[in-house]
Amino acid sequence: MTEKFISIAEAIKKGKGDVAVRGWVYRERGSNEFKFLILRDSSDIIQCVLKKEKFKSQWSDIDKLQVEASVEIHGTIHEEKRAPTGFEIQADGIKIVGLSDSFPINKSLNEELLGDRRHLWLRSRKMTAILKIRSTVIGALHEYFRDKGFYEFQSPIIIPGGAEEGPTMFELNYFGKKMYLTQTWQLYAEAAMYALEKIYCVAPSFRAEKSKTSRHLTEYWHTEMEVAWADLDELMDYAEEMIKHVIKRVLEKNKKEFEILERDWKKLEPSLKKKFPRITYEQVLKILKEKKKVSIPFGKDLRTIEEEKFMEDHDTPVFVTNYPKEIMAFYKPRDPKNPKTALCFDMLGPENNHELIGGSERDTNIEELKKSLKAKGEKLEDYSYYFDIHSYGAVPHGGFGLGTERLIKWICGLETIKDAIAFPRTMTRYSP
Ligand code: 4AD
Ligand code: MG
Repeated sequence: MTEKFISIAEAIKKGKGDVAVRGWVYRERGSNEFKFLILRDSSDIIQCVLKKEKFKSQWSDIDKLQVEASVEIHGTIHEEKRAPTGFEIQADGIKIVGLSDSFPINKSLNEELLGDRRHLWLRSRKMTAILKIRSTVIGALHEYFRDKGFYEFQSPIIIPGGAEEGPTMFELNYFGKKMYLTQTWQLYAEAAMYALEKIYCVAPSFRAEKSKTSRHLTEYWHTEMEVAWADLDELMDYAEEMIKHVIKRVLEKNKKEFEILERDWKKLEPSLKKKFPRITYEQVLKILKEKKKVSIPFGKDLRTIEEEKFMEDHDTPVFVTNYPKEIMAFYKPRDPKNPKTALCFDMLGPENNHELIGGSERDTNIEELKKSLKAKGEKLEDYSYYFDIHSYGAVPHGGFGLGTERLIKWICGLETIKDAIAFPRTMTRYSP
């Protein structure tokens, strides 16, 4: 065949006349006279009808075609209301490109088996739709920061130590020396901030957290930013604008995918239109006590259930600021206006999506930094470069980190974060 192939979506758009498409058999059924193939490519699916009398010599091969066999088909397309996407191709010719064994994915498989066969399950309409939305999200994040004048900055993945929390670092045998996989780009970003002022990254981070929740991965894509001269309010402005920009883009580009996922995208609209509330941790405790009858003493982190109760009343993300200083990472500075709290925020997501973003101003007071590190039992020598960074012309600055898969999970309305990434890594899932 010498046809110029077009995508199935383009063929449907054309709607009539001759077309040539290629792809994989998504479903098939046959009778004595006909073979119906639903063909899929990355763009859509379409029903193709092959009449036995037209394909006499090829019929025995056509009859044996199984799901996921790859074929090229040419014919005429016309409207057919009963077909899955409203159009149908009457085939004039077919070329079988690759045969398929009986495809080991079907409706009866449970989540575990689908996980084992992830390399094949990616071809499903559901996973294809999610991966398209994921591509929009990551593209929009890059676009947002670049349009705002940020430089993309890369930090090492293999680090000698020191970051968020020691116990959740993956160890690595580095030529006989103990090294770690990074949990965050931040400490290196703070060094580069003194050169570039406004920087960001979308890069893998690793967490050896023994958490089997629907929102923890051991390897995830961390969208981080760091800005010179910024205070907490400015950081929250960036975070809010960034989320709104991503939502705007997915609503522009991915309505079809939302339909496939049966995701009610209208639930995202409030986050585009309304300002995200900014509430202190202490106000949250008060609301929980008064409205939800849950009493938490100051100094305790909010647990899943408490975050859920608090978020029941919100249909947009909410910034919770000023968590207790003592339970925060060492680099989050004390708020001079309320010294038992830190200048930090978490952005909590609606629809039970919990912490999407964590951010803060950064402490540049080296004595304070040392005190916090010691209180956490960290070795000061691991951080000598970090003290050095802030010893030459320190300026106020800050940044945040977004769990990119957590954002994708929320946007797609997924039950588990595992579906927000092609090949998830969790405590119990590490292959394929
Ligand atoms: O709150 P975290 O630990 O903050 C930091 O790492 C800062 N150094 C970021 C910065 O200021 N540059 O992590 C940031 C975000 C969390 O809000 C969460 O969304 C995501 O990373 N995250 C995870 N996502 C998936 N799986 C995990 N195990 C995650 N741990 C954190
Ligand atoms: Mg956090």
